[in-house]
Amino acid sequence: MYQEKKILFVCLGNICRSPMAEAIFNKLAEDRSLHHVFKCTSAGTAGYHIGELPDYRTRMVCEMNAVTLNHRGRKIGHDDLAEFDLILAMDSSNVRDIIHLLKVKEEHSDKIRLLRSFEPDGEGKEVPDPYYGNLDDFKNVYEMLLKSCGHLLDELTSTN
Ligand code: 4NP
Repeated sequence: MYQEKKILFVCLGNICRSPMAEAIFNKLAEDRSLHHVFKCTSAGTAGYHIGELPDYRTRMVCEMNAVTLNHRGRKIGHDDLAEFDLILAMDSSNVRDIIHLLKVKEEHSDKIRLLRSFEPDGEGKEVPDPYYGNLDDFKNVYEMLLKSCGHLLDELTSTN
């Protein structure tokens, strides 16, 4: 029996990396019949793409891998700090922006982490922004997220 966990994946625009992370994590959890344990969504630190579907390249890569996206762009908000158990950022500028936007106090800062910190030797590692890149950059992000979300799921299911 696992305790329910609420996870928020965060990037800058909420159309490339974090919706992909959310969808991959949900698929991995579903594959292990653990989808009822996790409530996941994603958000951006910027509001440029509120209400939009994920970037077409994120949609292409997810479709190629039979990963279902179910998200519209949203900006992180103050209530998210209390709402989520884990707030997982793609890069260190996201972490800085989250702390600034949500006015995070020391006692809440533990729940904000880089996603890749769940990988062995992943301390300080980032998921690079593919927005100005090409489809190969999105494929690379997909592989990176698949690995880090797998480690995240392992960790969350071994410590419960
Ligand atoms: P994301 O990528 O943070 O992975 O969603 C970006 C999407 C849009 C922009 C920047 C990064 N933008 O500047 O509009």
